[in-house]
Order: sequence, then structure tokens, then C-alpha cells
Amino acid sequence: MTAYLNGQFLPLADARISPLDRGFLFGDGAYEVIPVYSRHPFRIDEHLRRLQASLDGIQLSNPHSSEEWRAIILRLIADADFADQTVYIQITRGADSKRDQPFPKGVPPTVFLFTAPLLAPSAALRESGVAAITADDIRWGRCDLKTVALLANVLTRQSAVDAGCTEAIMLRDGFLTEGSASNIFCVRDGVILTPPKDHRMLPGITYDIVLELSAKHGAPHEVRPVSEAEVRTADELWMTSSTKEVLGITTLDRKPVGRGDYLGKPGPVTRRMHAWYSEFRDDVMRKACV
Ligand code: PDD
Repeated sequence: MTAYLNGQFLPLADARISPLDRGFLFGDGAYEVIPVYSRHPFRIDEHLRRLQASLDGIQLSNPHSSEEWRAIILRLIADADFADQTVYIQITRGADSKRDQPFPKGVPPTVFLFTAPLLAPSAALRESGVAAITADDIRWGRCDLKTVALLANVLTRQSAVDAGCTEAIMLRDGFLTEGSASNIFCVRDGVILTPPKDHRMLPGITYDIVLELSAKHGAPHEVRPVSEAEVRTADELWMTSSTKEVLGITTLDRKPVGRGDYLGKPGPVTRRMHAWYSEFRDDVMRKACV
């Protein structure tokens, strides 16, 4: 049983929802992705808090208490036959009998979860880093909410793929916001830079870990607006997300990132951060729900 739908655990292939579901018709829903290492969900409380913030932001009441969410998530994790997983959670405003935009009355939300193997980037990909393009951030004004209305992200990410790249780094009004499915960090003169959390970007859980690791290991870092020029002339760039962890970006708009020995390769700060992250994942995340 790798899925859960409205109170029932079932095989993913058997999960069915109505075509009138507002998630399908309007993108009217919120979601979360929780990484799971050796069957321990990572930062489950933080993910559930971010889910609550997304639900509050779209005025959808949370159908479950934290204890209920935990029970559902832990059972899905236990039932799966793989140990490292990504648990996907989606809640929509349900299926109404008519297609009308205002919130329907008395319609139960749709609650859907499934788990899949967590496929972290390969060692070869870590060593080479990935290519990215820059793109205008064409999304709406509440990018801090993790909603299922991801068309702008999809189009932006596809433009990256069409250019033979992995990620698109989005810019709004001359400043870095984030990647189409990741947060972005850059390094300039040994200082790690990343934008502050606000409505223009998703408050990433991995972003938090990277800042915590920077503080713990005494790596110079600044959380402040990062200009397009600073991104374009960065010594190092990396992306973070629950599935990509810390992954170097080594070309930007076809030009190699960095300088000297590290031109077009993951730089020393990126390598160190990934090593700290891996150590933390294996020593802490794999051993307990922290
Ligand atoms: N996305 N920004 C965006 C737009 C994202 O979609 C994601 C992650 C992040 C990083 O957040 P976190 O570190 O909490 O994973 C930032 C997930 C993985 C997804 O949509 O699949």
C-alpha cells in the first residue's frame, strides 16, 4: 500500500479521484514533500507546519491534527518496501457537483498521499554539477505557499530542459528569487549568499538546514537580497531541495560558473556544504525523526 486517499490505504494504481476535483479543475490545493531516510521522516513537524501555513494561505481548513498526519505518514512509510522515500501529501478543496470558482459549502477536501523511492543525485552528477538557465519569475505573488498550481514552474522548468539544463534560476525585478523546484545559494569571495524568506520564494526546509550548517561550522553567510549581477558573476552556485539535497550548478546560461581550478566544476564551498549535509543526513537524519 503506497498510497492513501480520503481515509483509505491502497495501492497507488487503485487511487481514483473525481474529474470535478478542484485540484484538477483550478489547481485549488496545497502540497508537501517530506524526505524519509532509513524510514525516518525528516523534519516532519516543520513540514506539517509549512503545510498548515499553505492551507491557511489558501483558506482551506486542515482536515487532520498533527497526530493524525503523523499516523498516516508513518503507516505509509512502514508499508513501503524501500527505506529511503519521498512522501507526497496533497489536499484540495474537494470535488463539487458544479464547476464554480467560489469555495463550495459542505464539500469535504480530498486528501491524497503517496510514497516513492527517494532518488538522490548520483555521485557522478554531484561531481559534474548541473546546468541551469536564468528565467523571469512569472509566478503569482504568493510563492511562499506550496500550492499545486504549478503551471508557471512547469513552463519555466521545461524551458530549462529544452535548453539541455536541469534547473531554471528565477529572477524578479533584477533579484534572485529561487529555482523552479529548489532554493538557490551563491558564493562570492567565500561568503554564502541567499535571499531572505518572503512571499517571493518557498521557505525551503533544506534551505534552513544549509543555513544551520553554515552557522554550526562557522562558514561566512549572509541572508539578503541577491542581485542578478551577483548571480551571474558568482564564484559558486548551488540548489537545495528535499530531493536534490545540495547540488552544484556549474553552468549558467551556457557559461561555466566560477574561476580558476573550479571553473565549470562544483567549487570548494559547495563541496564542503554537501559533505556537511551528507554527514548530517547519515549521522542524524537516518537515526531519528529530527
Ligand atoms: N520542491 N522552492 C520550490 C519552488 C520548490 O518546489 C522546492 C521543493 C523548494 C525546496 O524546498 P525543500 O527544501 O523544503 O524541499 C524550493 C519539492 C521537492 C517538490 O515540489 O517536489
